[in-house]
Amino acid sequence: MIDIQKIKKQSGIIGNSDEIVQVLEMICQVAPVNISVLISGESGVGKEIVAKAIHKSSKRSNQSLVVVNCGAIPEGIIESELFGHKKGSFTGAGNDKKGYFEEANKGTIFLDEIGETPLDTQVKLLRVLENGEFMRVGEAKTRKTDVRLIAATNKDLHQMVNNGEFRQDLYFRLKTVTVSLPPLRKRTQDISAFVERFSLEFTRSNDLRYRGFAPEAIRLMKRYDWPGNVRELKHFIEKIIVLNKGERISVENVQKELFDSNTINTGKNSALPVIVDKTTNKAEIDLILRQLFMLKQDTELIQKLILNSKVSNRGSESIKDIGEIVKGNISIPEKSMEIIEENGYFINNSAIGDISIKELEKEAIIRTLKYFNNNRRKTARSLGVSERTLYRKIDEYGLEPKIKINN
Ligand SMILES: Nc1ncnc2c1ncn2[C@@H]1O[C@H](COP(=O)(O)OP(=O)(O)OP(=O)(O)O)[C@@H](O)[C@H]1O
Ligand SMILES: [Mg+2]
Repeated sequence: MIDIQKIKKQSGIIGNSDEIVQVLEMICQVAPVNISVLISGESGVGKEIVAKAIHKSSKRSNQSLVVVNCGAIPEGIIESELFGHKKGSFTGAGNDKKGYFEEANKGTIFLDEIGETPLDTQVKLLRVLENGEFMRVGEAKTRKTDVRLIAATNKDLHQMVNNGEFRQDLYFRLKTVTVSLPPLRKRTQDISAFVERFSLEFTRSNDLRYRGFAPEAIRLMKRYDWPGNVRELKHFIEKIIVLNKGERISVENVQKELFDSNTINTGKNSALPVIVDKTTNKAEIDLILRQLFMLKQDTELIQKLILNSKVSNRGSESIKDIGEIVKGNISIPEKSMEIIEENGYFINNSAIGDISIKELEKEAIIRTLKYFNNNRRKTARSLGVSERTLYRKIDEYGLEPKIKINN
């Protein structure tokens, strides 16, 4: 029997407000049952942390959790990413490839931003949800997979159904079990707990002095709107600790950074996905995006191989492997979207001793830029650096994209 305390400990979910207790109770109820779950809520409220908590407390916890951000995958390749493809089914499909649904077999798939999936793909999602059946792109054979689906959205799917943008049948299938995460401004009582945990984690991992927040400072923080929710709060705490060099945080410090600063609080949900102009020659754009996306995946995998070869001293063998990959003779497991956390650490054990801060920083920038569709403002905010610093780093690491897609 799982209880709320166990889930909190396992997942790191913070909060004692009635709203978060209700969410935790819901996790306890639904996690052990093999049923799809829809998690809804504004950006930064904790949808992903809840999805992970459900997986960790489920019977599938020993199997993989494949995380897919549907909003980050170009429309033209989303089906091949989700369901795989047959060699030669389109330009660039050099090998047979498994999709995320096959990768997640026996485990859980987390489809983030499900509202971003095209209508055609939604038909296929419904089918795989109903009976586990799907077909790889370019193949006539029906395949089966045993996957539990957790989906998340920061959009109003009901409204999307009314607008003809989301299929009603899929919506009904998904919404049976819905976990709604309230925005932070509706559960401000949890702010003290967040401040305590996030400050300690941050100061410990960065070896910083920490003298706490004045009670009035926390009271003032409870009066702010937090449009970016818990994510914004976390970054704010980290920023204010750094700015005040370990001194006790006063109400004036919070007032200055939170209310007087014109860089925060646009009042809009800034994490909504970028809208791509639908009037442009779509087929051509999709083709370019497909190639770019694959190239990016290959590059990531090759980077990993090089790193592994350094660690395992398989130098020349791995270089040979890379040659074969480039020629398209070897297919490597494509799990670039999968979240791998080993014993609560983000860095793979095998990389320790062979990885520099610069490499980590570069990877964090590349992957965050990719996650936010190259949106630098969101990337900078998410990484907790100023846009100016991000621009400098992009320049320093030579990450300037060669092709820009205008809308
Ligand atoms: N209740 C919570 N306890 C601890 N950490 C939390 C909680 N809620 C959110 N967080 C932290 O806040 C950040 C944002 O959370 P998360 O990524 O789960 O939000 P999200 O709803 O998926 O956002 P988005 O819609 O932008 O993808 C993460 O660092 C997460 O760990
Ligand atoms: Mg998320």
